[in-house]
Amino acid sequence: MTVSAVAGARQVPSLGFGEQVRGVLALRAGRQVDFLSEVIAKHGDIAWIRMLGMRMALVNHPAHFEHVLVRNHENYDKDAFLFRTVDPILRGGLIGVVGGEPWRRQRRLMQPSFHRPQIAGFVRNMTEESAVMLDRWDGQYGPRDIVNVSTELGQLSMRIVFRSLFGARVGDRGDIIEGMFLEANTIAGDYFRFPVPPLSWPTRKHNRLRQIIRQMDGYVDEVIAERDATGEEHHDLLAALMAATYDETDEHMSRTQLHREVLNLIIGGYETTSNSVSWLSYLVGKHPDVQERLHEEVDRVLGGRAPEFDDLAELGYTRMVVDEMLRLYSPSWQTMRRAIGDDEIGGFTIPAGSDIYLNVYTLHRHPEFWADPEAFDPERFRPEAVAARPKSAYLPFGAGPRNCIGKHFARTELTVILAMMVQRYRIEVPPELPDVEISPLITLQPKGGVHVRVTRR
Ligand code: HEM
Repeated sequence: MTVSAVAGARQVPSLGFGEQVRGVLALRAGRQVDFLSEVIAKHGDIAWIRMLGMRMALVNHPAHFEHVLVRNHENYDKDAFLFRTVDPILRGGLIGVVGGEPWRRQRRLMQPSFHRPQIAGFVRNMTEESAVMLDRWDGQYGPRDIVNVSTELGQLSMRIVFRSLFGARVGDRGDIIEGMFLEANTIAGDYFRFPVPPLSWPTRKHNRLRQIIRQMDGYVDEVIAERDATGEEHHDLLAALMAATYDETDEHMSRTQLHREVLNLIIGGYETTSNSVSWLSYLVGKHPDVQERLHEEVDRVLGGRAPEFDDLAELGYTRMVVDEMLRLYSPSWQTMRRAIGDDEIGGFTIPAGSDIYLNVYTLHRHPEFWADPEAFDPERFRPEAVAARPKSAYLPFGAGPRNCIGKHFARTELTVILAMMVQRYRIEVPPELPDVEISPLITLQPKGGVHVRVTRR
């Protein structure tokens, strides 16, 4: 099912002065999603909001998302505030490149590395690394221990993305790199909330961000140089990217571009999945009924062995749980575009040059499309329920040509890790602990991490 835009050209409503001030305070306090929900409740699915002097159109209807990302995507690029903020880190890699031919060329080159057979080849990385983590839990945690699984699962996601990119050997430096990523996300996320002074100013935090970027650069350079020097055959993403050639010229990516893409894949592939598996543990640990059904399914389908790629189709309920987690806590909870030419979104006038703010967190709670939106209910993802909803009411991986290149990788990884965790353990969020709050940085993190008890089944 698709949705069409509302007819009749109108001016996008603007916030009053008092509301704008409240918005700035909410941003500073990290409570922007509450504020945005208030704006939507009062003004409807489209409104001009201001973030520290920058005016942007907040859009919230599935038809608006579809218009910007799919139907009229040619009129929207990534020369928008969010991507300018993170450009010192992404530097023209696939995630942040503005658009047009430079993006298309790069995407065409990289897409085959993310096709089904390639993803199937990565499943072993996922199962073996998960088994190493779970074996460690066996020796380390008793039924009374409360474990911060976010730390554990962060390391696991890092190892999986590194092993898929670079092969098995390089994963052991994951802890240091993970720490750097967390710090970079906090600095960039803070800056996005309050972009003063500019990143180019040498404040303590900005200098630290630059230092982290230099360290990551050094690391990626080292790995690529090692490959060049040894000339050994590898079966990983880096090898595929080094072998790939552009259609038009038959040439390989330059070393500079390869370096950028490797960093973009680490950035795109690590924190998103790391946060997702944390949220999965939280939701499953809070809902014993859902966990019972997961136990039944993994026991029936896997019978105690590790999942293989072909098993994933049989793990239908496990995948529904993953989908519902991605609705409530989509790590990629916001994005932006810039309108290249004048346009109308849902019948509202959008002048050329406008920044468009697409908030997936509120989209995924739109009351017209999601009954009782805060409730965790995997049944929403039964195939009949999915078919009855507009496709663009649910966009954890974006939509249109710039959707997530790693979405099959991510879905596979999340399903594998969840299946293996519940196969071995009963997960419980201790009832005495307060609910975990969201920390809306560049990705949506669980504030303070997720703490659970894991008991061997
Ligand atoms: C749960 C995990 C993930 C989520 C929720 C997620 C979400 C997204 C979203 C929403 C976009 C589009 C952003 C926009 O339209 O502005 C995107 C793009 C992208 N993602 Fe992911 N992602 C995930 C995992 C991954 C993984 C595992 C990789 C790579 C290994 C990856 C690499 C990328 C790249 C390179 C892009 C840019 C694609 C382009 O513009 O052509 N992501 N992701």
